[in-house]
Amino acid sequence: MAIHWDAATREWHLASGALSYALRVGEGGALLGLYAGAPIAAGRSYAHLGPRPFAGFDNRLGEPVRLEVPTPGSGDYRIPALVAEQADGATVLDLRYVGHAILAGKPALDGLPSTYAETDAEAETLEITLRDEHSGVEVVARYSIFAGRPVIARSMTVRNAGRNPVRLVTAMSATLDLPGSAFDLVTLGGTWARERHVVSRPLVPGRQGVASNRGESSHEQNPFLVLAGPGATETTGEAWGFSLVYSGNFLAEAEVEPFGTTRVRLGINPETFGWPLAPGQAFTTPEAVIAWSGEGLGGLTDAYHGLYRDRLARGTWRDRPRPVLLNNWEATYFDFGAPRIVEIARSARDLGVELFVLDDGWFGRRDSDHTSLGDWVVDRRKLPDGLGALAAQVEALGLGFGLWIEPEMVSRQSDLFAAHPDWTVGIPGRPLTEGRQQLILDMSRPEVVDHLFAVLADVLRSAPISYIKWDYNRHMTEPHSSALPPDRQGEFAHRHVLGTYELYRRLTEAFPDILFESCASGGGRFDPGLLAFAPQAWTSDNTDAVERVLIQWGSSLAYPQSSMGNHVSAVPNHQTGRITPLSFRGKVAFFGTFGYELDPGSLTDAERAEVAEQVAFYTEQRDVFQFGRFLRLRSPFEGDRNEAAWMVASPEADRAVVGAYRFLSRPMPTVNRLRLRGLDPARTYRVSLWPSGDDPLAAANVGLRGGDELMAAGLDLTLTKQQTQASHDFRAWIFVLEAT
Ligand code: GLA
Repeated sequence: MAIHWDAATREWHLASGALSYALRVGEGGALLGLYAGAPIAAGRSYAHLGPRPFAGFDNRLGEPVRLEVPTPGSGDYRIPALVAEQADGATVLDLRYVGHAILAGKPALDGLPSTYAETDAEAETLEITLRDEHSGVEVVARYSIFAGRPVIARSMTVRNAGRNPVRLVTAMSATLDLPGSAFDLVTLGGTWARERHVVSRPLVPGRQGVASNRGESSHEQNPFLVLAGPGATETTGEAWGFSLVYSGNFLAEAEVEPFGTTRVRLGINPETFGWPLAPGQAFTTPEAVIAWSGEGLGGLTDAYHGLYRDRLARGTWRDRPRPVLLNNWEATYFDFGAPRIVEIARSARDLGVELFVLDDGWFGRRDSDHTSLGDWVVDRRKLPDGLGALAAQVEALGLGFGLWIEPEMVSRQSDLFAAHPDWTVGIPGRPLTEGRQQLILDMSRPEVVDHLFAVLADVLRSAPISYIKWDYNRHMTEPHSSALPPDRQGEFAHRHVLGTYELYRRLTEAFPDILFESCASGGGRFDPGLLAFAPQAWTSDNTDAVERVLIQWGSSLAYPQSSMGNHVSAVPNHQTGRITPLSFRGKVAFFGTFGYELDPGSLTDAERAEVAEQVAFYTEQRDVFQFGRFLRLRSPFEGDRNEAAWMVASPEADRAVVGAYRFLSRPMPTVNRLRLRGLDPARTYRVSLWPSGDDPLAAANVGLRGGDELMAAGLDLTLTKQQTQASHDFRAWIFVLEAT
């Protein structure tokens, strides 16, 4: 890995070993892209790949085909990276090269989560300074590469080095110009309980993309997009990934212009952003992580999983096995007392569960979602001896004790709202719109962050708490801070997110042994920003196993399974009313961090025995389920959408677990072979089915098989007509492969 600079040609070549990124200073001083993609040799000039006179592009900086920091009004009419309104009201900038620095390692971004290097040898960073003489606006374009990883982390700092005020209207984290437009745009979309479904469509001329203006990254769109090249599959073809390390309003879009190039940009959503910079002030964007793959979407997944699991997530829990938990939410909702909780925890313990999580309802007078958010004081009506005593009882059973909190929210009926109505997000003189009967605290105010830290630290000190579920249960309306003057309201949405990050930072640093799981009505903030603080997230409130196959599949494009909270819940499912077998629910939830959302006391003896077997199997295979390489095999978004399959494999490929799912039973089955991936072709694997016992697929698959055969010919999932007739809906198979 190295960043090369050639002073004679004024070219840089960022070579990570798995990706090359070349750029240069143009004749007019503009920063121009030359190449991005598969590794190419260092030590050569690639200037000839760069702009040649071409009718479609022409601007005051000259040679503008691939611009690294495009700005408006100069003849480049594509989507800009930076729009800065100057004292004269104009937004034209002539950003010209001033200098650069090549740094070992990777600097942190002030106040923002970002990927990191543990040693200077792991990463290298290029910071290029550009300046517009007319206004004094200076830009530092930042590029980090990581040894052996096909990724480049980008961010930008804009400094007002002039004498007059400047207002940032758009400040993207990255843009990338690609010489072509034959791509499918793949995004992860949906809504509450239907998060991160894969949405794919061919790029067309013009702008297209996804965004959030809900105050959070959102259930509806994820700050992630893929450009998949012609014919790209899970394993073949070129693909680009664009991921934003951010939890607030974002924009991720692509523009195809008439001459067949594509520009991608991603960053803070300009629609809800405006940032004044007085002389001397600077603004740093969140980080964007761009990944390149020559091996299809699977290659992108490997790149993001590795980087986000190992160098975005941090803290003591990053690499530690995550406990199997049981959460009482769907078992009790708000209706519980200490004896009931202890009873649930005891029966969970008997099944092998390791951590009990007390969800919403333990504080204030929280008998429904109409009240008490903000009052983080234990409700003695429900828990007369307090949290400490309850946690001690749960610990005495041999379980860890976890707790639910929702720091950034306040109920109108609460002591906090009565004391500090101005701490609430809203516009004075206008009605406050409630969402789930609650209001949002103004996290842009440092005193709100200070208060929350103080009261929550008290809670965390009051009991032996080893896990926190940090929720955020509504979208933002009336975005406005009564602490900011009118001309600075454009800062609010971003400052709110920065306040959340600050609270997360303080609490995770003060309580390093607590495992934090983020949540936002399920997956409303399932993004890389929060992953930097909380190494796992509640994937979705929808625990229906059929729905979860879709949600987990989509999430896996960018997010490692160690970040996905997957739990088995009771049936009929509380979100869909569907009844699926317990075995199917377990076999879906295994592929992530695992647990239960049910009352074990309501299970039959046979079901309890089955749960105990599930927990035992999961804990036996936990390392590969949580930290193994995740490989998607059969998409639930393709074909007749009735099947899915994926697998996890150990880093040495000596162990793997395959999950294969069939939703509805259909008559007259077809021949069905499932090719595996990620095995060692030279090794022999002992293939078994879990649980062992009578299974129609055992005869064809159980035994010794070559890794080559399993990848070339695959497992045999074919059922006979009779076997199909004897089967039922919602069938899943788990195959365990162990190298001999
Ligand atoms: C959100 C979460 C749920 C549960 C409830 C509690 O909806 O996603 O898991 O914690 O809040 O109110």
